[in-house]
Amino acid sequence: MALNHLLVSLIVLLTFKTVSFAEIQPKNLSVHAGDSYEFVQREKLPDFSLLMWIITPFSKNYSETIVTCDNETRTVDVSSSYKDRVVLNTATFSLTLKKMLKTDSGLYCTTTIGQKTIPVCQYNVSVVDNHGSTTTNFLPLILLTSTLSTIMF
Ligand SMILES: *[C@@H]1O[C@H](CO)[C@@H](O)[C@H](O)[C@H]1NC(C)=O
Ligand SMILES: *[C@@H]1O[C@H](CO)[C@@H](O)[C@H](O)[C@H]1NC(C)=O
Ligand SMILES: *[C@@H]1O[C@H](CO)[C@@H](O)[C@H](O)[C@H]1NC(C)=O
Ligand SMILES: *[C@@H]1O[C@H](CO)[C@@H](O)[C@H](O)[C@H]1NC(C)=O
Repeated sequence: MALNHLLVSLIVLLTFKTVSFAEIQPKNLSVHAGDSYEFVQREKLPDFSLLMWIITPFSKNYSETIVTCDNETRTVDVSSSYKDRVVLNTATFSLTLKKMLKTDSGLYCTTTIGQKTIPVCQYNVSVVDNHGSTTTNFLPLILLTSTLSTIMF
């Protein structure tokens, strides 16, 4: 009996997942390594008791919870692997991830637990290398130019 109930819940969960994946196109974006990015919560939320941001990294086979927020207490629980890098806006439920790493590349989804469980994948993120950045290349060039000028004149 209990097992049956569990199986039914699991099937319902999987069905919801399939439906949402098909209906909602995540936004493709690329972010430079080291940058911060604010994942704006774009979907209309149902009544919920818990909201979670979850990631399915490209490099992994499974999803991981980044943050959980309790609707009533607005308590934010950050997963230990994201400690100090995550800010959740408890009014808008937008997620800011700081100092992004290449391993942060993946599919970012929100799930709510309460009346319904609807995983909505909102962002498909590729974290790309930062070489060619103007700030790191420009400054040495200016210094070199002024040094040369000093030597030559
Ligand atoms: C995102 O990229 C994938 C594969 O490159 C593509 O199939 C999908 O349509 C893109 N999504 C959007 C919203 O442009
Ligand atoms: C949060 O909980 C309150 C009561 O507990 C409820 O009235 C409200 O609709 C919930 N908010 C959301 C966004 O579900
Ligand atoms: C991913 O999961 C599939 C089965 O779901 C398994 O066959 C495969 O080995 C897994 N790959 C990795 C990299 O864990
Ligand atoms: C996410 O982006 C990757 C790489 O850009 C692409 O291969 C993949 O198809 C995209 N997935 C979705 C669901 O848009």
